[in-house]
Amino acid sequence: MDVGGSRIRRRVSVRKRNRPSLEILFAAPTVAELRPGDEEEEEDKEEEMVAGSRRRKTVGVQPVENHDSEEDMFGDYDSFAENSFLAQVDDLEQKYMQLSENREHDADLATADLFSESIKHNKLSITTVGSFIELKTHEHTENQSGHKDVAVEPGPDLLCELPSSQVLYFENLQNSSNDLGDQSTKERDWNPSSHKTVSEDLLHNSIEQLQQIHESSSKVRTSSDVNRRKSLKDVLKSTMAGNAKAQTPIFSRTKQLKENLLSEEINVAKKTIESPSDDLGPFYSLPSKVRDLYVQFKGIEKLYEWQHACLTLNSVQERKNLIYSLPTSGGKTLVAEILMLQELLCRRKDVLMILPYVAIVQEKISALSSFGIELGFFVEEYAGSKGKFPPIKRREKKSLYIATIEKGHGLINSLIETGRINSLGLVVVDELHMIAEGSRGAVLEMTLAKIIYTSKTTQIIGMSATLNNVEDLQEFLQAEYYTSQFRPVELKEYLKINDTIYKVDSKAEAGMTFSRLLNYKYSDALKKMDPDHLVALVTEVIPNYSCLVFCPTKKNCENVAEMICKFLSKEYLKHREKEKQEMIKNLKNISNGNLCPVLKCTIPLGVAYHHSGLTSDERKLLEEAYSTGVLCLLTCTSTLAAGVNLPARRVILRAPYVAKEFLKRNQYKQMIGRAGRAGIDSVGESILILQEKDKQQVLELISRPLENCYSHLVQEFTKGIQTLFLSLIGLKIATNLGDIYHFMSGTFFGVQQKFLLKEKSLWEITVESLRYLTEKGLLQKNTIFTEKGLTQKDAIYKSEEWFQFSFHITKLGQASFKGTIDLAYCDILYRDLKKGLEGLVLESLLHLVYLTTPYDMASQCDPDWMIYFRQFNQLSPAEQNVATLIGVSENYIGKKASGQAIKKKVDKDIVNRLYLSFVLYTLLKETNIWSVSEKFNMPRGYIQSLLTAAATFSSCVLHFCEELEEFWVYRALLVELTKKLTYCVRAELVPLMEVTGVLEGRAKQLYNAGYKSLTHLANADPEVLIRTIDHLSRHQAKQIVSSAKMLLHEKAEALQEEVEELLRLPSDFPSIEKA
Ligand SMILES: Nc1ncnc2c1ncn2[C@@H]1O[C@H](COP(=O)(O)OP(=O)(O)OP(=O)(O)O)[C@@H](O)[C@H]1O
Ligand SMILES: [Mg+2]
Repeated sequence: MDVGGSRIRRRVSVRKRNRPSLEILFAAPTVAELRPGDEEEEEDKEEEMVAGSRRRKTVGVQPVENHDSEEDMFGDYDSFAENSFLAQVDDLEQKYMQLSENREHDADLATADLFSESIKHNKLSITTVGSFIELKTHEHTENQSGHKDVAVEPGPDLLCELPSSQVLYFENLQNSSNDLGDQSTKERDWNPSSHKTVSEDLLHNSIEQLQQIHESSSKVRTSSDVNRRKSLKDVLKSTMAGNAKAQTPIFSRTKQLKENLLSEEINVAKKTIESPSDDLGPFYSLPSKVRDLYVQFKGIEKLYEWQHACLTLNSVQERKNLIYSLPTSGGKTLVAEILMLQELLCRRKDVLMILPYVAIVQEKISALSSFGIELGFFVEEYAGSKGKFPPIKRREKKSLYIATIEKGHGLINSLIETGRINSLGLVVVDELHMIAEGSRGAVLEMTLAKIIYTSKTTQIIGMSATLNNVEDLQEFLQAEYYTSQFRPVELKEYLKINDTIYKVDSKAEAGMTFSRLLNYKYSDALKKMDPDHLVALVTEVIPNYSCLVFCPTKKNCENVAEMICKFLSKEYLKHREKEKQEMIKNLKNISNGNLCPVLKCTIPLGVAYHHSGLTSDERKLLEEAYSTGVLCLLTCTSTLAAGVNLPARRVILRAPYVAKEFLKRNQYKQMIGRAGRAGIDSVGESILILQEKDKQQVLELISRPLENCYSHLVQEFTKGIQTLFLSLIGLKIATNLGDIYHFMSGTFFGVQQKFLLKEKSLWEITVESLRYLTEKGLLQKNTIFTEKGLTQKDAIYKSEEWFQFSFHITKLGQASFKGTIDLAYCDILYRDLKKGLEGLVLESLLHLVYLTTPYDMASQCDPDWMIYFRQFNQLSPAEQNVATLIGVSENYIGKKASGQAIKKKVDKDIVNRLYLSFVLYTLLKETNIWSVSEKFNMPRGYIQSLLTAAATFSSCVLHFCEELEEFWVYRALLVELTKKLTYCVRAELVPLMEVTGVLEGRAKQLYNAGYKSLTHLANADPEVLIRTIDHLSRHQAKQIVSSAKMLLHEKAEALQEEVEELLRLPSDFPSIEKA
């Protein structure tokens, strides 16, 4: 059989299904997207999830009957969601109908009402409408202020100062009236200084427009219903378009001129980019405004040489796929950003940027929102619980989706499912080496493979600082390669053995040369406490420069911070003293008055530890303080190396270990790469502290090449190849053996298979996986598949009949796929839910919470049996009954607590899972992470992660149940539970926390200062924010405001979409001919 032959076509079957969107199915983030991995296994999980929990705790909650992802995106607060809005539309229509009837009636009665007069005469004069509106304004003002205002008619100059929404509104109104063949007026009610909320404006304008419609329709009374609906639709749309575009309350002539100029430049750029000439336009085919914005927002005046060279590569101009690799801090992001802007503005296509962690996505969203607002594109967040599947289809402006790996995968799936994959012009993957990292790498690989397989027009660009076997990646991505060794700030690498510092020198025979002896007088006490001379090393730099100390474990971070502080002179207290005191106050504020005792001692000296045991709010605050220099030293785990960008003058590696594992070359490179801030430091230094015994290994570490990247697609069985196959068949990307095999040969694994899994052919692997999924009841074979094309080598499988079939996904497969349930757990989940149907205890939330406690976290949990026993005894009889139903007895826990031997076999995973559900249940009751952390003796960061993971898993289970009729009863319950888990904060803070970078603590501050909604934030003046909110830098204030503006803008657009959809004539509407 000739597998590679022509018979096995590259077939892409994309079904456009008219059914509810996939939502959380694709959404469901795995905990890993949330934070950089740490080699400490346990830390890994914790870290990843904590960052996610800081995110807007919203999505994942959907009404059962309606999968409209809008609901998912906005939850049930601050929403334009269906009920309120659609009800408004209905009301308006109703009112309109009534109004028509009444007016008509009045007209017949020949009343003196101006309005009805015009109806009566079946004509609408400018004066008439003007008078009417004037009258309305007049009445309104009178009602509001208690005195009569004189109505003013705006002259042409005044109109220039109208809010842009109003100007657009007038323009559109004019058009819509013209549509109706009417003469309309330019004189309208207006109020340049009113800062209304979108919904207020919406309502206000809608009512006005309704009246206008009414008048117009009186003239064209013979028009059909369809026409009338169209006019309503148009005016609603136009009003909302107006509001949505009102980014700043005042609309000036200068602004309009600037906007015109920009759009002209974009048109020129568009032409330039489409023409084959070498002329690059004002700024790499982009409007010169982009260059100005880089100067304004980032202080970047000129591109580095390599950046210019890379952007002008022929392959880049020809839109070939590209991989580029440069040392850390080389400025890789800028190149990707320029290419993304070209795609968005000039080629008018959407762009996806995939970043490894939630915190980095948020950083990027904040940084690019202002570009989006200035240049007219959307920046949409796909991280943590944010993101809509499929994304909203925008009419004019394009979208830049910034996503974590998992969310990026969900997005691609949803675009493929809805036949929209070609709308994506460019996909950028930062930190491409992540493709080799466990299940996350497998997800990244399948995402890219799906893009390559389904879209010929989507360009892929990958970048990394740590790539070795680029050829394999090039083959997989069919990409060109660019590399340079450029680093703007020189990095000097040192090693420290005893009290000697050596410089890493690849030219020297030993790989290092003597540099200096440490010159620091150590007392005996200090020698004992600090044998590694950490105090000496950090005090050479702090407090004027910043320093990071990477430690092998979390506990070590805290110890080192405390130890260093013990020996710092009192002088350090004085450095930025007031800001540090305020910071402590702030830490207390965000932690319900609690303060970590270690931080309490270290912060006054400008030192803090940073790891996953802290809550995300605490970490965010520490990060901010460190980047502004209030803190000068952070002791941290390796997670910080891959997380948010926090560079330092000096980076110290406490030991060549991460947990108990010896450091890998890539990790070493990432950590030392934090040294040297571009534009701030003239030099960066790294010092690796090592013991004599590790010397040989360290010398190898610093000299050997970077580790190769290897595919994890097959190694991560259930989370890799199994999930891939289920989605290929579920999405109908490839449904028969031949196509699936063809797909597999195009993956990164396909490229590396010959040395990754020598003993099996790719064909065998494909067949085995399909068989496994079929046996598990997730797939079913279909019709007979002709086997002409199979190779001889594979003929051994010919005898097996089943593989000759094409496949379809079963109900259980579909549920697992939609719920993004790890296939290792899908049958356990099914069994647990089925058992729950026999007797779900609903007297408290405990039973439901148990069912949505994540399996993977339970398997890693190690209960404190005394606490377990104590908590068990505090349960009500009904709650204890839950434990009995699940199969955990008090007797068992009691014996464990007293250390007795237990003969009876008990499922450890069930017992552990119940323990974690106790934690969650307590948290739901008390809503205080600190007190729960104390009660269960677990780090607060872990509790926070558990909550996020449970909220996510709860929505996954909901989607699982939605696909299986027998579980209908769970749906309503899970909607509510997901909400409870998601909003385990004060409900009024949720709308503010939607804004990227606003965590609970900041949300509280803003709320208390009077910024109670997204609209408040979008209209806030950053300068006022700085003055009223403690510890808010100008940079942060600007980012909050621009993120809020962007979000509001997106919501308004979403609303427009909704109206359009609602008022659209169904495509299957029976036509007269048919009837
Ligand atoms: N042309 C430039 N002029 C001045 N500063 C620049 C320029 N290009 C980038 N930078 C700045 O250099 C810093 C590092 O850039 P960037 O984050 O893109 O590095 P990177 O190559 O992605 O590094 P890493 O591998 O660590 O992610 C940023 O602060 C960025 O604003
Ligand atoms: Mg980077």
